[in-house]
Amino acid sequence: MSSPQPVWDFWIRLGHWLIVAGIIFQQISGEEIELVNAHATVGVLLGGWVLFRVIWGFTGPYYARFSSFPPPAPKTAVASLKRVLKKETEETAGHSAIGGVAVYLLITLIGLTALTGMASSDDIFFSGPLAPFLSADAVDLAGRAHPILSKMVLITVIMHVFAVLWHQFAMKERLIQGMITGLKIGSEKLSAHPHPFSKMILLRGFVIFSICVGGTYGLLGIYLGW
Ligand code: HEM
Ligand code: HEM
Repeated sequence: MSSPQPVWDFWIRLGHWLIVAGIIFQQISGEEIELVNAHATVGVLLGGWVLFRVIWGFTGPYYARFSSFPPPAPKTAVASLKRVLKKETEETAGHSAIGGVAVYLLITLIGLTALTGMASSDDIFFSGPLAPFLSADAVDLAGRAHPILSKMVLITVIMHVFAVLWHQFAMKERLIQGMITGLKIGSEKLSAHPHPFSKMILLRGFVIFSICVGGTYGLLGIYLGW
């Protein structure tokens, strides 16, 4: 029997909508030299989110954990994609195989973009917080990779949004509501321990989120004297 189940905990949902706002801001502010400080600050915060999401992938509730994602094998992912294109609902409460691959890709690309931004410098207007610790060649490479990676983020995000809209409107799955309320239709029995909506998860997420996002900003921004 398929029924709405508590799947996405508060920190997955909050993080998701914050990174949506953050990535949109980054795509606009990256082109404007007068917004470079705001761009760097939001970029460092996005780097903090990546750190949080990776740690939460091991310490969060069941559906946030990477161990609950289907293995990212090409064969399984292609089979899953074919089912989606044929509008065959998988009814997995967590991520489908192709959805899991998309999440790994988004986290990796956002992480690499943030990292290369922090490592880049033009020696005139801007020096990223990691640039003073790196060789001139590494700084140069980071500076050249950053715009390329940021375009890859944009392309992946566009594909992600198309995929979500396909599920939402062509397949009539209420995924967007799921990313707001945390509830998602799934045919599996909820094996979630601890429960994604429990007070313990709320508190554990608060501690890990604050340390990762606040700590990354504090260490890179304040300690390095921005
Ligand atoms: C900058 C734009 C975006 C980025 C970087 C992004 C990133 C992500 C990531 C990383 C996840 C996995 C959640 C996790 O496990 O942490 C996810 C899931 C999801 N995103 Fe986005 N997202 C973006 C835009 C959007 C937009 C505009 C929508 C709505 C139209 C959306 C709807 C969803 C939904 C519904 C899921 C859950 C999919 C499922 O139930 O399997 N995303 N997104
Ligand atoms: C996920 C996070 C980030 C995204 C999505 C992002 C995106 C972008 C984009 C789209 C551009 C314009 C590229 C172009 O001109 O074609 C840009 C430029 C830039 N970004 Fe970021 N950025 C991020 C993080 C950072 C961080 C953390 C820093 C520094 C701490 C940074 C520093 C810069 C600088 C200095 C430029 C202008 C020079 C250049 O074109 O490379 N970015 N970024």
